[in-house]
Amino acid sequence: MSSEHNEGQFRYFVVVVLGVVAFIAIVGWLVTRSAGESAPQQASSEETKAVEERTSPVGEVTTQTAQAEAPAQAAAGPADGEQVFKQVCTACHGMGIAGAPKFGDKAAWADRIAQGKETLYTHALNGFTGSKGMMPPKGGNASLTDEQVKAAVDYMVANAQ
Ligand code: HEC
Repeated sequence: MSSEHNEGQFRYFVVVVLGVVAFIAIVGWLVTRSAGESAPQQASSEETKAVEERTSPVGEVTTQTAQAEAPAQAAAGPADGEQVFKQVCTACHGMGIAGAPKFGDKAAWADRIAQGKETLYTHALNGFTGSKGMMPPKGGNASLTDEQVKAAVDYMVANAQ
């Protein structure tokens, strides 16, 4: 008697669970369907396309520019050095601030250039404290590569000879 009673309860339970599952499935289907058809969804997918169209040429240009510049930089180091100088080194060397030998000042650079490029590279890369002041390693920008720092040294030296 009691087992029949339990069976009845179990069936009722199964029906309720199936009902809930079916309800969730139907609601889910409706939501997905209406979302797929709704205007905002279309607008946003159109927007996405528009954004892709607007941004992709820029991305292409950037890539092309980078590709076009890479060989030029490799061929002409001073171009890259000029960039690094203008971004980092000019802070001190541009105007000769904090005792830094001023850009283009032949007198200030003559003795330094006489030390040889390797010494200048080493001092620029690792930092250097002289009688005039303190040259921070890589001009204080640790994200520069050794090649970039050397190119900046080449650029400054080339303009002080
Ligand atoms: C915070 C200021 C500052 C920045 C930024 C800076 N320098 Fe200097 N640099 C100095 C000072 C000061 C000296 C001179 C130190 C002395 O002789 O007493 C110097 C000296 C040098 C020298 C001569 C070293 C020698 O042996 O005489 C080189 C080469 C040099 N800097 C390269 C660079 C490069 C390349 C950058 C950029 C990546 C740079 N510096 C950025 C302050 C700076």
